[in-house]
Amino acid sequence: TTARIALRLDPCAPPVRRRLFGSFVEHLGRGVYDGLYEPAHPRANSEGFREDVIDLVKELGVSTLRYPGGNFVSGYRWEDGVGPRDQRPVRLDLAWQMLETNQVGLDEFARFCALTGTELMLAVNLATRGITEALDLLEYANHPSGTTLSDQRIANGSPEPHGIRMWCLGNEMDGEWQIGFMEPEEYGRLAARTASAMKKIDPTLELVAVGSSYSGMPRFGEWERIVLEKAYDYVDFISCHSYYQEKDGDLGSFLASSTDMDHFIDTVAATIDHVKLSRRSEKTVQISFDEWNVWYQGADPHPERELWTLGARGLEDVYSVADGVVVGSLLVTLLRHSDRVAAASMAQLVNVIAPIMTAPGGPAWRQTTFFPFATTSRMASGVVLRPRVEVETYATAQHGNVPLVDAVATWDEDAGSASVFLVNRSVDESVTVSIDLGDIPVTRIAEVQSLWDDDVYARNTLEHPERVRLRDDDDVVVHDGVVTITLHPVSWTAIGLA
Ligand code: AHR
Repeated sequence: TTARIALRLDPCAPPVRRRLFGSFVEHLGRGVYDGLYEPAHPRANSEGFREDVIDLVKELGVSTLRYPGGNFVSGYRWEDGVGPRDQRPVRLDLAWQMLETNQVGLDEFARFCALTGTELMLAVNLATRGITEALDLLEYANHPSGTTLSDQRIANGSPEPHGIRMWCLGNEMDGEWQIGFMEPEEYGRLAARTASAMKKIDPTLELVAVGSSYSGMPRFGEWERIVLEKAYDYVDFISCHSYYQEKDGDLGSFLASSTDMDHFIDTVAATIDHVKLSRRSEKTVQISFDEWNVWYQGADPHPERELWTLGARGLEDVYSVADGVVVGSLLVTLLRHSDRVAAASMAQLVNVIAPIMTAPGGPAWRQTTFFPFATTSRMASGVVLRPRVEVETYATAQHGNVPLVDAVATWDEDAGSASVFLVNRSVDESVTVSIDLGDIPVTRIAEVQSLWDDDVYARNTLEHPERVRLRDDDDVVVHDGVVTITLHPVSWTAIGLA
């Protein structure tokens, strides 16, 4: 099979947005405790954070970190997590039926963000708490000094304000699994009132209203319309969440998961445009795709865990090469939608459906999903080019006919470099792709990185942490302004051109 791609400079090309390469840390299982924070670990720094994890987060190229949930935030009292550690309460975490010791809270997590060079994106609890607590948290976090709450932050060891720009107004309020779930009218009003109050403290905040928990929600589309009709003037983003998994051995459908993400983004963008017009607004609300990943829901590898215990394992999915390829293709979709999706967070960061795994007291290693994320974050720069891909389609049970190859490219005029990101969704066929470089002034291949394996279910584990790695030995040539490369079945590839 062959495919043809033509790259062209585009004066309207949207920028590559660094916030697209965000991640997410929830108080859940070993995400925080025995994950990024393990004071007794030999590589822990004086604050209890693992330096090997910090190094991997930097290598992953993460821009923002959404915190502290997720479902967890809907039962969270932020005050529990600040002040002297020995006075912090232990609470029931109703979302995950675990215990929360509060040994890590806002000030510690802000420190972790500083150590990893990431931007903190904070979620407020709009389920069991409301406007007052959101305002208190904002004042504690961002007000310089001279008020009881800001002086409390200073006394707690953070003299400088945390300067948090992006705030999530609750989490997945459309889902009945959520503590305090709501109807869209109810949530839309609450989001509007909370946002309006928060902007009285700082009108430049960037506030994210809760959108649908996935595109299969019964009120998907209607939820966004109603929430935006109530809150459009006060918020800056609306969220999308989506997780994908291979079901019933249908690898072909799974590899086409990004079709759903494409449709999700297009639908929400259309709803934003509709509400914008109906309100005669000048502003375009943007999309924050602030939870996305592969997640084998209903297949928890540690189902036997006891409830209400400390240090329980949860959602510790071990990812295959095929899962990594899907993550790469979801990044292709996110990049392609850079005109509407201004922020995104792969969920999550450490141990919990995560690209980084750790063993307590032992090593940290990269899952398969680490590689396309780190490479796309490193190589995507400048503006996004959206080439047309001419290729055959294949039939899928879940998504209809889907192109075998998907691709997106970036062009960085200042650096004089371009990158092309490609996925071959065929389960058994190689595809030879010719990429016409058109008017892009690049002439040579700077690097090629790809993820594929004869065993598409190969994984990295504690015993074999480097079983799967990126490959850089692909057969690729550039001749007369055309790059030719053969993509392996079930593969993700990045080509750097200079
Ligand atoms: O990331 C795991 C969970 O998935 C989050 O807590 C929730 O927001 C979503 O349903």
